[in-house]
Parts: sequence; structure tokens; C-alpha cells
Amino acid sequence: MLRPMACLMVSLLTLCLPAISAGGGSEAEAEDSFLNIAHRGASGHAPENTMAAFDKAVEMEADFFELDVQMSKDGHLVVIHDTTVDRTTDGTGAVKDLTLAELKRLDAGSWFGPEFAGERIPTLEEVLDRYRGNIGILIEIKAPERYPGIEEKVADALKERNMDQPESGAVIVQSFGHETVENFRRILPTVPVGVLLSPADYPDGVTDEELAAFAEYAEYVNPNQSLVDEDLVRRIHAWNMKITPYTIRTAEEADRMIAAGVDGIITDFPELGQRKQ
Ligand code: G3P
Ligand code: CA
Repeated sequence: MLRPMACLMVSLLTLCLPAISAGGGSEAEAEDSFLNIAHRGASGHAPENTMAAFDKAVEMEADFFELDVQMSKDGHLVVIHDTTVDRTTDGTGAVKDLTLAELKRLDAGSWFGPEFAGERIPTLEEVLDRYRGNIGILIEIKAPERYPGIEEKVADALKERNMDQPESGAVIVQSFGHETVENFRRILPTVPVGVLLSPADYPDGVTDEELAAFAEYAEYVNPNQSLVDEDLVRRIHAWNMKITPYTIRTAEEADRMIAAGVDGIITDFPELGQRKQ
């Protein structure tokens, strides 16, 4: 809940909104900068969050791939979506209760198809080393409440590779944990950050007060596509932020997002991003 002074500030800022740049420049520039982001890699075509899915994203000429990062029992950054290994590997148990060696023994490909047998859970460092400079990387810090200190570890991995410098390769960091996003912004201010929004957390939509708060520290607001309409896109742009919604899986969904004016889509099928002409 905003205090009266904060409300006054928000109201004044709201009055100023038309004067604030939309951040997209001309229409031609906006089209050029549309981001086709392969969700968990090209996860419609290969097992999510594996090198096979990231290779596929490169092959399909996506602009970025998205990945989910968590931490092993012994403090290594590992790339996997669920907080357990049960769905996407041949093992069982919580990611945070398994060492890197234990996680590396698991098959992370066979569940998707026999041709992917032997795919492993990558570490974040392995992914950064392999793809840096070839494709943008959108890093989601997953379930940060389970992994105290994960923001510093992700920041260190980027700094060690000079990936906190914009010329060293495109990186964006996002999370559903907005304190984590703010924290990461403080630790590594040169790396763009985004807040993820789920329908469960925003059942009545996103208010201007909430957007004003995000604009204090974030460059991206990335909602579930069900929350997106033209008005939300306009308001996010008015706060000089960008919007790349998740998770787009059909041509109809892609076309609806493009018509609403989004700056990119996070999609299991990077061919859908090509629908933006
Ligand atoms: O990039 C956003 C999207 O990945 C968030 O949802 O569950 O796929 O991590 P989820
Ligand atoms: Ca994700």
C-alpha cells in the first residue's frame, strides 16, 4: 500500500507520462529491436534448459534464449526449471539437496525423446562460456527464496566473463522474486533486469502504482501473456520500460501479442517470433 506522499509522487508522474519517452524510438527501430526469445531454449523442439535446446535456439536464429538458474547442494549454479529433478531427468529429489556431481549423473534428455539421451543439466558457467557473444541470454533466477546469496553468485559468474559490460554480449536477468531483482540491480547495475508477473499474483491486473515501483529499478516487465493487452503495453512503455511476455506457444498467441505492441515474446517455438514483420 502506498503512503500519501508516494501517491502524490505517483500521481504527478502519471500526469507526466505522455512526456516520458516510450523508449522504443521510431516505429522502424521498434521493429528492428523486437526480441524473439527461445523459452528454456527452443524447448518446443528439444529438451528444455539443455545444450540441445540452446543450440536449437541459435540454429533458429532467436535473438535470446531464456534459462532458469538454481543452486546445487554444494553451491553450484545449475540450469533447470523445476525445484525437483523428477519431471525432466531420470532422477528424483530436490535440486537443492543434490550435489553438482549427483546432478551431472542424471539424463536430462530422454524424457523428451530418445535422440536426446545423455543430455546433462548444464551449469550456468558452461552455458555462459558456450554462448557468450553468439546469442543473448535471459537468465531467470528461479525460486530465489530457496537459495540465499544466489544473486551474488550469478553476478560473479557474469563479472568473471566481463558479461556485465554491454559490449561483451547481451544479458538480461529476471525473476518472479522482485526483491531478488532489486537486489541484483544493486549488485550489478550495468545488467538490465526484468520483473516477471504471474496471473496468480496480479488477478486484477497491474496498476500504475505497481508500474511506477518497477520503473524505479527495472527495464523489463515480463507478464504472463494472459495479463497483456494494448493498454498494459502502452502503460509499460509510458514508464520507459519494455515488455516481453511469456509463454507463447501458438501462432494466434504470437499474433495477439504482436498486435498489442510488445517488444518481444518468450516462446517455446522461435519460429513464432518470425511472425513479426
Ligand atoms: O521467462 C519467463 C518464464 O520462463 C516464466 O515462467 O515457469 O517458464 O519459468 P516459467
Ligand atoms: Ca523461466
